[in-house]
Amino acid sequence: MIDNNGLPIGVFDSGVGGLTVLRALRQRLPNEHFIYLGDTARLPYGTKSGDSVLRYSIQAAEFLVNQGIKYLVIACNTASSVAVEPLRQRFAPMPVIGVIEPGSMAGCAASKSGHIAVLATEGTVRGGAYQRAITRLKPDAKASAQACSLFVALAEEGWTDGAIAEAIAHRYIDELFGNDPRIDTLLLGCTHFPVLADALRAVIGPTVTIVDSADTTARAVEAELLDRGLLRSGNPLPPILQATDSPERFARVGSRFLGESFDAGRVELVDLAPST
Ligand code: DGL
Repeated sequence: MIDNNGLPIGVFDSGVGGLTVLRALRQRLPNEHFIYLGDTARLPYGTKSGDSVLRYSIQAAEFLVNQGIKYLVIACNTASSVAVEPLRQRFAPMPVIGVIEPGSMAGCAASKSGHIAVLATEGTVRGGAYQRAITRLKPDAKASAQACSLFVALAEEGWTDGAIAEAIAHRYIDELFGNDPRIDTLLLGCTHFPVLADALRAVIGPTVTIVDSADTTARAVEAELLDRGLLRSGNPLPPILQATDSPERFARVGSRFLGESFDAGRVELVDLAPST
């Protein structure tokens, strides 16, 4: 029998945002080895068509699978919204997880009124995957969604609190709550948004619950690894970090998302579709 337990877990995102998911995974699963791929050359995915995002996701997943992984985590919400099922079919029996299902479960568990709002990219909102997952889990829920495109730029720029972040958050939040004042749970349906949680909290006040899918996804990965007998025992290893463009920018901006500083020398520049 082939023992897959020692193989790494592959994680991909459109860029650096998914490092928030990697951070949660490493906290929960310190003995696992991770390969993280950020497709920075084609960032953002959130404004692209579903067809393009699916094509990019297949290339990113294939690139990780070819390195030998035991489990695939789609850390990008926009990619999760179109690619989970196609990637499961393509790579079965290897498990594949996205962030939408775990995030929706956390949102439904947190909400008392059943009025749940998702903040996400334009592509994720347009595809409706969160709204479908929430109403599947909680049929009487009222799910609304708001595209917050400027949040991605704010997060990458590091302008995550203060007057500018709060003014932009106000525009998005006022529109949401104007349409549904009974919202009691805000689900952060984008990798970049956890770093804006303080600005959002300042705008929505203390009573609305903010839910982030990173930790719930990490818990779901842990449960599945346990269930399949795939947990790695052994000494912790530093993650392998790969990017399709500019290791310098990846390290500079990504350190904030990972919550620890790393330099460009740690980041391998890779090409997902090399010309032959
Ligand atoms: N990673 C994307 C997501 O979670 C946000 C950035 C992008 O648009 O590519 O939806």
